[in-house]
Amino acid sequence: MSRFWKPGTEKPRLVDDEEGGVLFYTASSSSSSGYGHASMEKQRQRLPVFKYRTAILYLVETHATTIIVGETGSGKTTQIPQYLKEAGWAEGGRVIACTQPRRLAVQTAASRVAEEMGVKLSEEVGYTIRFEDITNSELTRIKFLTDGVLLREMMDDPLLSKYSVIMVDEAHERSLSTDILLGLLKKIQRRRPELRLIISSATIEAKSMASFFDTSRRRLGRDGEENGPRKNPAILSVEGRGFNVQIFYVEEPVSDYIRAAVSTVNAIHDEEPMGDILVFLTGQDDIDAAIQLLTEDPHSRKQGLIVLPLYSGLPRGDQDLVFSPTPRGKRKVVISTNIAETSLTLEGVVYVVDSGFSKQRFYNPITDIENLVVAPISKASARQRAGRAGRVRPGKCYRLYTEEYFINEMSADGISEMQRSNLVPCVIQLKALGIDNILGFDWPASPSPEALIRALEVLYSLGILDDDAKLTSPAGFQVAEIPLDPLVSKMILASNDYGCSEEAITIAAVLSIQSIWFSDRGAQKELDEAKLRFAAAEGDHVTFLNVYKGFIQSGKSSNWCHKNHINYHSMRKVDEIRQQLRRIAQRIGIALKSCEGDMQVVRKAVTAGFFANACRLESFSHNGLYKTVRGSQEVYIHPSSVLFRVNPKWVIFHSIVSTDRQYMRNVIAIDPSWLTDVAPQFYQHQQLNPRPH
Ligand code: CDP
Ligand code: MG
Repeated sequence: MSRFWKPGTEKPRLVDDEEGGVLFYTASSSSSSGYGHASMEKQRQRLPVFKYRTAILYLVETHATTIIVGETGSGKTTQIPQYLKEAGWAEGGRVIACTQPRRLAVQTAASRVAEEMGVKLSEEVGYTIRFEDITNSELTRIKFLTDGVLLREMMDDPLLSKYSVIMVDEAHERSLSTDILLGLLKKIQRRRPELRLIISSATIEAKSMASFFDTSRRRLGRDGEENGPRKNPAILSVEGRGFNVQIFYVEEPVSDYIRAAVSTVNAIHDEEPMGDILVFLTGQDDIDAAIQLLTEDPHSRKQGLIVLPLYSGLPRGDQDLVFSPTPRGKRKVVISTNIAETSLTLEGVVYVVDSGFSKQRFYNPITDIENLVVAPISKASARQRAGRAGRVRPGKCYRLYTEEYFINEMSADGISEMQRSNLVPCVIQLKALGIDNILGFDWPASPSPEALIRALEVLYSLGILDDDAKLTSPAGFQVAEIPLDPLVSKMILASNDYGCSEEAITIAAVLSIQSIWFSDRGAQKELDEAKLRFAAAEGDHVTFLNVYKGFIQSGKSSNWCHKNHINYHSMRKVDEIRQQLRRIAQRIGIALKSCEGDMQVVRKAVTAGFFANACRLESFSHNGLYKTVRGSQEVYIHPSSVLFRVNPKWVIFHSIVSTDRQYMRNVIAIDPSWLTDVAPQFYQHQQLNPRPH
């Protein structure tokens, strides 16, 4: 077993990283907000951005684009939209928009701003995320939304004409939607000189972003005089207010970062003064495992710890707990995905435990597999994580990797999502907005041509693009209208022909949330038994239909959900999403119809959307080895699937997760002849016949 330090029991080693072992922030004399009994107004004035209020408003007034860089927690997200409103940017029915890559960040920012302004959320201040619109078209003046939702709004209003200022927040994350949005906003600016953009982030290569938006040379008026705002972007750096953070490294690599994180938390609790702990793990599974160890294992359970999870998709009540102040005499431990890296500020954190990993999407255009992989973070992320410990007083960050690893092996910056994603959703969105020359689009960072070509090929096979790479009518336009992954949208569209749109919509709704099962910690056996009650031989998609049916028959009872290990909150969400999808389906001319139990047509509809994910059983080794038909990649059925160990000859998967192997999640059995029926261009017959030997 590998060894790691325990603060206090072994003397922690303060090692110099290349910044001198300590992350330096300019510490101010003022103590933190949030702890005193200062009024909301006082708290607002203590935030670092407040000193820059006039400067920000002046720059926004005089420049088409303003780039604002400032440490997490300095007040960018919550304050700048309010300053803009106070300065009159929301007068005359105009709206101030602030985008975030993450849905949870949209919700928390909006509720905080509504609280600070003393207004009801959904009125003057509102938010929109996919399938949840908490705004009022008459009243809302400040609107928080995901960058994906803003892209969708462009389909109805290509110039985003109701917005006076659009603040693209967290731009350093370089999410796929952020990058597309930046490219499109640059185009919109040319048509709407009165529009103002703010690009804000915790760290950003401000110069490269500025040169991307610099259109000053091309924008001179007829006589060389410029009118309106200046076209070269302004850059403003908000000085932070954090405190020093001491960095500790493990002496030897750890083999199990979950256990290492748990014992580090316990060691901190035993040895260190009060102050909350923030632990960075990778996803819900990790987080649940760590929480189980911390709360249930008698060897590691501690008094006085309040252990809370934080990940997107967390129910509302659990979110509120994370943000509520820690009771006196207790210590809060928040176990989070990298959502707490920059998107959210947690007050009171003094200790950070950094696993060094996060879940990242990786797409390989050669094998055509998009994976969700637990991968090492970058140095930039590691510094951000450490910074979270220095909000209220000097803090400590425990890195569960060696110093040598940090210095020599960690990459300096991450790769933007654009360069590691399947581009099918991105291409269809641009096409729907009338951008025909996708290869020539003005991207902040160009995607790989292979990935783009691959996306064009898939969309062509789906019948969404025609020979000229234009959206087909009506199919292409219909698919673009549905706010889902185009493969899911295509499934819904196809279900119209098969007479099972009600079922396809239910499946789509379930696939768009994380999980409908309630993963009761330590009750895996009961969960498996519950699943068996609904399990369908055809696969997971049909199992979802059984669960939904049971839920409806129970009168949407929470008690029924509880008895069956089904997450009631998730099922309510499924029901809500279903209603919205039904409205959209009707609007685009899909007849709502149920196939009344004919599961063959449901499977055909799934095949029509997901044919590119077809796999054939190769051998029974390791509980069933499959290979993808197109890329010959080795994949296995995930143990959470009802088809695990059942191993039908041919299956289609919804997504892949990688751990030790590549696992297919949400799997359905198919007949291979359907593949050539639905996608003759994609599959030749010989690919599907048994091989000669
Ligand atoms: O965007 P940035 O990271 O610069 O800061 P912010 O999110 O605007 O947060 C500014 C301040 O508001 C911090 O002190 C937060 O702790 C506080 N805040 C809060 O108490 N509750 C929230 N839901 C959001 C922010
Ligand atoms: Mg922010």
